[in-house]
Amino acid sequence: MERIVILSGAGLSAESGLGTFRDAGGIWQKYDLEEVATPEGFARNPALVHEFYNARRANCAGAVPNAAHRALADLQHAHPEAITLVTQNVDDLLERAGARSVIHMHGQLTRARCAGCGHLWAAPMVMQPDDPCPACAARATRPDIVWFGEFPHHMEAIGAALEATDLFVAIGTSGNVYPAAGFVREARAFGARTLELNLERSGTSGLFHQTRLGPASRIVPDWVAGMLGQD
Ligand code: APR
Repeated sequence: MERIVILSGAGLSAESGLGTFRDAGGIWQKYDLEEVATPEGFARNPALVHEFYNARRANCAGAVPNAAHRALADLQHAHPEAITLVTQNVDDLLERAGARSVIHMHGQLTRARCAGCGHLWAAPMVMQPDDPCPACAARATRPDIVWFGEFPHHMEAIGAALEATDLFVAIGTSGNVYPAAGFVREARAFGARTLELNLERSGTSGLFHQTRLGPASRIVPDWVAGMLGQD
């Protein structure tokens, strides 16, 4: 099979009950992102930031993968060497659907990180500002989440995958947040075909060779079935 890089966003997990960010009623209409998703906000009020991510961790633990997560995991199982799964999502629904080696460019709710020594460990369900780092004991525990103004994880690996891919597919992302919003341009510049799967047209739809519209739980399994049918 040809090489495929798949970038997912909040729309992939919307039908599992995890809110998106910028749709009507989305997370950034309910919370001030400057307060809960920036290093400055965390420095001002770490308890508030932990509370926000503790609530999201609890939502995530109560959610189940939907048909779109399962279809992507099936595609990866069928062609592990060809498929690179990159996600902006901090949930673990792709993994719980059976996907492996998912590149979490914006971090993961299930991980805690020491802002002092960089040590990573499994996040408890409820994190607090005073939690000591298990490695260095510093009281500088934060969620392993990439906040606005911070550099996303794994950019080198993602860049290499975009350079080598034949097809780039974006699923359920509004194309508002860089660098992920720029991946379609990068992939095209390296000669890849590009496909967008989204509920509605996004700000970056015009950059893709093709856009297919509909809920992820329907259009992702349809697309995967078509790809597996070509085998
Ligand atoms: N199926 C497919 N797409 C959907 C669905 C659905 N059921 N529901 C919503 N969408 C689409 C919306 O139309 C929108 O284009 O998913 C997209 C969600 O966009 P955002 O809420 O902006 O989420 P995302 O693009 O993942 O945000 C990127 O912003 O705040 C940061 O770090 C956060 O990773 C996040 C980043």
